[in-house]
Amino acid sequence: MKRTLIAAALAGFALSAGAQEPTWRADIAPIVKKGCSECHGVEAPEFGDWMLLPDAKRKKEGPRMDTYTTFMSYVVWPATGAMQRRLDDGANAGGKPGNMYKHLGETDAERAKNLATIKAWLGEGAWNLNRFKARESVPGVTKEQLEKIKAKY
Ligand code: HEC
Repeated sequence: MKRTLIAAALAGFALSAGAQEPTWRADIAPIVKKGCSECHGVEAPEFGDWMLLPDAKRKKEGPRMDTYTTFMSYVVWPATGAMQRRLDDGANAGGKPGNMYKHLGETDAERAKNLATIKAWLGEGAWNLNRFKARESVPGVTKEQLEKIKAKY
């Protein structure tokens, strides 16, 4: 009896340790700090202010995305799917990687690993490139797609 209880407790422990979900704090913030914060850090304007900048300036300066909340505004709202569109390696975007994919690392292996980490963190089925509303032939994101987002802090 006692042995069974210990075995069960150990199995439970192993399960929870093995299935540990990625978090913003442990897994994503370091990637953003290393690859993105030079242009999207604390000095950068938040999305709303960035959108008010003249076009020419907006092409040269990125908006802020170095905190959980600012980062999520490019996943969920108001810039729905912008993170996925810019970071995609081309697999979901007709073969052409997003223009921020290159900042995910110095080598192909590092970029692929960091992209996989971000995808796993967002959650299975949450890598959707759709905007909030439909544009041309691309449908807007659905509630079912948004519900896939886990993105644990
Ligand atoms: C060398 C500077 C630089 C680095 C490093 C950089 N970016 Fe950017 N990023 C920009 C600029 C400038 C823009 C705005 C111009 C454009 O849309 O391409 C931008 C735009 C974006 C956008 C689109 C925002 C929107 O709403 O349209 C996303 C998302 C993004 N970057 C994500 C990232 C991520 C994630 C990283 C790190 C992996 C990163 N960027 C690294 C300069 C950079």
